[in-house]
Amino acid sequence: MNFDEIIDRKQTNSMKWDALKERYKSDDLWPMWVADMDFKVPEVVQKALHNVTEHGVFGYHFPPASLREAIVEWMDKRFEWTIEQEDITFTPGVVPAIHQLISVLTEEGDGIIVQPPVYYPFFALVNTNRRTLLENDLVERNGTYEIDFNDLEEKMKSGAKMLILCNPHNPGGRMWNKEELTKIAVLAKQYDVIIVSDEIHSDITFRGNHVPFASLEAATDLQVATCMAPSKTFNLAALQLSYVISNQRELQQKLELSMRQNFTGIGNPYSSAAAEAAYREGEPWLTNLLAYVRDNIDYAEKRLKEEMPKIDFVDPDATYLLWMDFRQLGMDDQALQQWLREEARLALNDGHTFGKPGSGFARMNLACPRSHVEEGLNRLKQAYDRLQQP
Ligand SMILES: Cc1ncc(COP(=O)(O)O)c(C=O)c1O
Repeated sequence: MNFDEIIDRKQTNSMKWDALKERYKSDDLWPMWVADMDFKVPEVVQKALHNVTEHGVFGYHFPPASLREAIVEWMDKRFEWTIEQEDITFTPGVVPAIHQLISVLTEEGDGIIVQPPVYYPFFALVNTNRRTLLENDLVERNGTYEIDFNDLEEKMKSGAKMLILCNPHNPGGRMWNKEELTKIAVLAKQYDVIIVSDEIHSDITFRGNHVPFASLEAATDLQVATCMAPSKTFNLAALQLSYVISNQRELQQKLELSMRQNFTGIGNPYSSAAAEAAYREGEPWLTNLLAYVRDNIDYAEKRLKEEMPKIDFVDPDATYLLWMDFRQLGMDDQALQQWLREEARLALNDGHTFGKPGSGFARMNLACPRSHVEEGLNRLKQAYDRLQQP
């Protein structure tokens, strides 16, 4: 594995590289947006995919029991979380899964809590399902984010039916700890709130181990659906395989019925083979990936601190995303957006799309070769230096 290798992704219909014109009105920006990686998957995964191609038959498919077994083992090995194969429902993506969960577990008009700044599709998922969006803004403290539990309780008390938890949190990179998760569980029990826990980033962690919400003792009697996938971990997003873990059979049956009624397909020979190979044999690759990405983060943080002190950042516990705070530059969102595109020539994710508390921020993806990070920061520094000139 050579994470320094530059792989040309242009003209491969890559969202990150080939949708710049459509999204940013210019195709010569340096792409550090969409949350995928510019790295090749582990060799074992590529080999498994070759084997599927060699076999050459692509009839109707269902994800095999051996994949369920590999997932069960992964949960145990990575998080000391014991689940059963029957707890797994395959889904064609975490966003589609959350959409189905909202539609089957809540009614039109019901309140659903999200915690901005947060992964922006959560807003659309609540709104397109015609549920009521309840925003429990995170609080910034000591350069990181915390949950405002008083406000969370208020929101739950006001009749919220569901909380979409993002753990680890995108874009702030927080791994919610046992104590915080337990507090959420206690409140959810008190006010009868369903928890949809999006844990898609749970393998990309730098400080200790991720704690699955549903693994907590305090979550035992709650209605919890945990959404996970190999897509962020092993760069398999295009294969569209994810899964919901829940030991609540009624919840699971509702989800599965809804997927059937919506003619939602699940998996194909490629996604099953890739996911199983990754979970069974991809851990050494992941260990190296985490070290490489953490070095990228340290490098970016050092350069920001030393060369661009007015650009602050949240040091992530998890995720390969750096949440950068440009507020000291004194620009409104439109001016910041324009400056990043026209002066820095960078394609980042604009902070305000993650909700109001994201105003003045932007998200930079650091899952790329070091030279790509260097170029991105060089561009940012040139624009920054021009701003500082009288
Ligand atoms: C928190 C979170 N959930 C879900 C997704 C997307 O999941 P999927 O591609 O499986 O729909 C992302 C991708 O960036 C994410 O950050």
